Amino acid sequence: MQTGYGDAGAVLELSTTHPVPEPGPGQVQIAVHAAAVNPIDWQMIEGNRRMISARTFPFVPLFDLAGVVTAVGEGVTRFAVGDAVHADDEKGGGGASEVVVVDERLVSAQPAGLDHAEAAAVPLAAQTALLALERGGVGPGSRVVVVGASGGVGSFAVQIARALGAAQVIGVASGANAGHVRSLGADEVVDRTRATLSEALGDRRVDVVLDCVGGREQWLQARAVLVPRGRFVTIARDEDGEVTLPSVVRLLAVFAARRARSAVGRRIAYVPVFLDASHELLDRVDALIASGAVVVPVTTRHPFTLEGVLELLAHSRSGRAVGKSVLEVVPAGAPPVVAPVPATRPVHDRP
Ligand SMILES: NC(=O)c1ccc[n+]([C@@H]2O[C@H](COP(=O)([O-])OP(=O)(O)OC[C@H]3O[C@@H](n4cnc5c(N)ncnc54)[C@H](OP(=O)(O)O)[C@@H]3O)[C@@H](O)[C@H]2O)c1
Repeated sequence: MQTGYGDAGAVLELSTTHPVPEPGPGQVQIAVHAAAVNPIDWQMIEGNRRMISARTFPFVPLFDLAGVVTAVGEGVTRFAVGDAVHADDEKGGGGASEVVVVDERLVSAQPAGLDHAEAAAVPLAAQTALLALERGGVGPGSRVVVVGASGGVGSFAVQIARALGAAQVIGVASGANAGHVRSLGADEVVDRTRATLSEALGDRRVDVVLDCVGGREQWLQARAVLVPRGRFVTIARDEDGEVTLPSVVRLLAVFAARRARSAVGRRIAYVPVFLDASHELLDRVDALIASGAVVVPVTTRHPFTLEGVLELLAHSRSGRAVGKSVLEVVPAGAPPVVAPVPATRPVHDRP
């Protein structure tokens, strides 16, 4: 549980909660088997976004989660006890716990063939990737660059671009991660430590650049390689760090200037994307996974201990995470939890 804003090591603690949360109308209770980390998890623990999204404490972190339905609230029609499900619980979090209650509108059935850890790795990153590529108009024949192709969103984006029919997918990543990006279906990988995107592409042009890294440089590089009326889609900000009033003002000024720039000359569109999670979007991602077009790139698994949670967050925070990193709340191979959890039992019973 997070008790305040700050360094994860200082503000997270193991805790036992009574009673077990019960599902209200339109909610499902889920016995969590696995959770996944995304940069927003440690950003919000540190309080980087407290100005736009304040937290009440204590708060159980990790938005991405997967598990088994143990109870359903009034009006829930899509799920029954025993269903294997996953969700990006974008407001409530709760992945780093044994039981959570989630709005049904955010929950999808897990695609067949995944374990819980793989299912937990999907919701936030893969929904973002699909939404961003669609906003970019990626479809049959598109030539696409994915900047940050080895990370969580990028690893899904490379594959989903292929699945949408892209004719060419170029990933930008560290040379050390080129093999990972190629294995996901990229035709080519630009080693960002050796060349800029425009140097690597030379005279070649692409239709869409999806930026999963952020910074002004991505916009400048993309403009150099996009065709007229090409689309620069970004899921990241120019500035890292805490969201403050001055940084919001600068962000809005950047948006306005780039939008204005998009209306003249080569008319390269500037398309910032913010995920608004939904089961409809997640269902569409899951269909791609079920078809075999997209694999879930889980690369590291951490145990459900305080140390395990801290290592998971630190791994993401290092900026060197490849694919997805997950927390195994119920260790793989352990008997599944499928019965409703009695309200009198402690949720967190670890020392
Ligand atoms: N707008 C939204 O709704 C939304 C949704 C999800 C995520 N995001 C944001 O999108 C970004 C990516 O998310 P993610 O989950 O994919 O992150 P991630 O998994 O942590 O990405 C890690 C990868 O980023 C690359 N990287 C790190 N620092 C870099 C740098 N200075 N220059 C270039 N590449 C760098 C590294 O790859 P290489 O070393 O191989 O280059 C690393 O493997 C984050 O900022 C996240 O907050 C936004």
